[in-house]
Amino acid sequence: MSEQKRIPQHVAIIMDGNGRWAQQHGLERYAGHIQGVESVRRTIKAAARHGVSYLTLYAFSTENWNRPAEEVNALMELFCKCVINETENLKTEGVRVKIIGDKNRLPGNVQEHLTRIEEQTAQGERLTLLLALNYSSRDELTHAVQQLARKVAAGTLNPETITEQSVEQSLYTAGYPDPDLIIRTSGEQRLSNFLLWQAAYAEFYFTPVLWPDFSDEEFARALDEYAARERRFGRVTNRNEERS
Ligand code: IPE
Ligand code: IPE
Ligand code: MG
Repeated sequence: MSEQKRIPQHVAIIMDGNGRWAQQHGLERYAGHIQGVESVRRTIKAAARHGVSYLTLYAFSTENWNRPAEEVNALMELFCKCVINETENLKTEGVRVKIIGDKNRLPGNVQEHLTRIEEQTAQGERLTLLLALNYSSRDELTHAVQQLARKVAAGTLNPETITEQSVEQSLYTAGYPDPDLIIRTSGEQRLSNFLLWQAAYAEFYFTPVLWPDFSDEEFARALDEYAARERRFGRVTNRNEERS
């Protein structure tokens, strides 16, 4: 019997607490976002090292547009800078980047950078990095409903034949597995409009650590806790599965 630790295939992270980190250090909120990029870099490497196949990072929600324009603009600039600085490293590490969210509502230059990183990393086979940008679940589900309704209106889809799979295929995450583990930093214990459909059977890990302080050790702790959880998916414990 293998004693190997059960590793989640898909980890999703709500990277929260950049602003509070900056405040704690007497800095502007923007400095927290810059420091947060270091954690992103570290965590991508750690995920690949642990054998995680999919990593989703919540970077900007549709509600984050409601922040002061100064912060929103700074974040958009930071996304562009990251693409420019990180593409080569990601390619070397075998990371394939995909954006989930409504790209069309992002500034033109950000869209261009994102399309470029998706194209240039398309061959990555070690880890798929799903970047949730201008993402929210309700927005995603609204788009999915519109897409299905258009097909019904065009006469190419019979409403009676719509299944959970049809809905899934209309989401930004179409073709990717559901997250097994969702981590949120900064002590908040909520989803903030993240992967509401996909999280149906996810395990949750909440840590008070602020995102810029999220370390390899903290990530390993989350994986350890995940490995110790019993996932039942509505069934009763299966002794054979428990032993495998
Ligand atoms: C998360 O950190 C990053 C984004 C939402 C872009 P926050 O900016 O939300 O940090 P806090 O929650 O204010 O500390
Ligand atoms: C969630 O964090 C969004 C991201 C991490 C990108 P927020 O800081 O926006 O969430 P709330 O407002 O605390 O729920
Ligand atoms: Mg926050």
